[in-house]
Amino acid sequence: MESFKSCQIACLNLSVVLISRLECFKCHRSKLIQQKCQISSVCETNCSSIRFLLYLIFMKHRKERSSCPAVLDLFDQQYSEELGDLWPAARAVLLDPHSWQYGVMLNRFSAVTDITQILQSQGFSTLFLSIPSLQCYIHSCPLRFPSQAHRPGQLKQYYLLNAASLLPVLALQVKDGEKVLDLCSAPGGKALAILQSANPALLCCNEPDPHRRDWLAKTLESFLPRALHSSVIVSAQDGRTFGQSEAGLYDKVLVDAPCSNDRSWLYSRNIQQGGQRLKERAKLPSLQAQLLKSALSAVRPGGIVVYSTCTLSSFENCAVVETVLDDFPEAELEDLAGSSYRRGLGILVVPQPGKTWGPMFLCRIRRRK
Ligand SMILES: C[S@@+](CC[C@H](N)C(=O)[O-])C[C@H]1O[C@@H](n2cnc3c(N)ncnc32)[C@H](O)[C@@H]1O
Repeated sequence: MESFKSCQIACLNLSVVLISRLECFKCHRSKLIQQKCQISSVCETNCSSIRFLLYLIFMKHRKERSSCPAVLDLFDQQYSEELGDLWPAARAVLLDPHSWQYGVMLNRFSAVTDITQILQSQGFSTLFLSIPSLQCYIHSCPLRFPSQAHRPGQLKQYYLLNAASLLPVLALQVKDGEKVLDLCSAPGGKALAILQSANPALLCCNEPDPHRRDWLAKTLESFLPRALHSSVIVSAQDGRTFGQSEAGLYDKVLVDAPCSNDRSWLYSRNIQQGGQRLKERAKLPSLQAQLLKSALSAVRPGGIVVYSTCTLSSFENCAVVETVLDDFPEAELEDLAGSSYRRGLGILVVPQPGKTWGPMFLCRIRRRK
């Protein structure tokens, strides 16, 4: 009976999302009500049929997006050379947003626990992670669990993410009582994952962009209990100078750097935006190297810095790490074993059909004592 109840709640939540979409597209009241009834009654009898039904409705009403030709051309030139045989399949995934999978990271601070049953009833399974308190569910199909709206006075139960973005957090290996800096923090997905993994004495979430900082603050507010507010602070510095102002203060630093973001750049709003982004692309490696150097100054001797991006571009990944290692003799690269693809100095997760996680690059650097 209990699982039935949970299942109903999930389906009703989902139907609300879908119905508002239908309303928006069609403005047909009687049809809307009929659709809602149909969903609820299927739910009462068969949970997997509701999943399938919702998926079909979603597929029918999804909005087609077109890719930006200039960005795609550049990716084709660069990535066919850098990735060889891996590129055609990765390209197919990037060009098909309907194939993208989403991870559901649970919020251990939320008191409501029915979400696990709901996810399991919809065919989600646990991602095996080395940290028990960090729980993430994934689905073999591109089924997108609805995002939760803000509910005053109630913490959100889960956060939707690209499951590969948990890798930099796992690589950071935060322990209870450590001081951690998330140098480029908004919208806060990795900060939340850090807090699911351990109880740091301090987590400083830094974000210089005011709009994104607001977004970050809202994320933290809707996922974290008040008791944590004193140990999680939001700061607004330019990450490039953070290492000077707070030299050697942190045990662990995450640099999830601003980057080309292959998925979203491919879907630039228009040709102008695509062209503008391509111009900015050339400046990114220098900014990224400055951020990584600053992180190495902010970490204490013996501490760890993880550098990550969500681009496949070697100019923003290995080349940045190499440049910084050349300039920073105290920095020592650490081995990251056991991932799908290893390229040079770190790990590169390349999206593939059925496993559409990534792009994600990461490497782990220790500052020598
Ligand atoms: C890839 S996003 C970070 C995503 C975030 N870590 C998460 O998991 O939700 C990179 C962020 O770096 C910020 N950023 C850009 N320039 C920066 C700088 N000079 N110093 C620090 N952060 C910067 C951007 O505004 C953006 O929010």
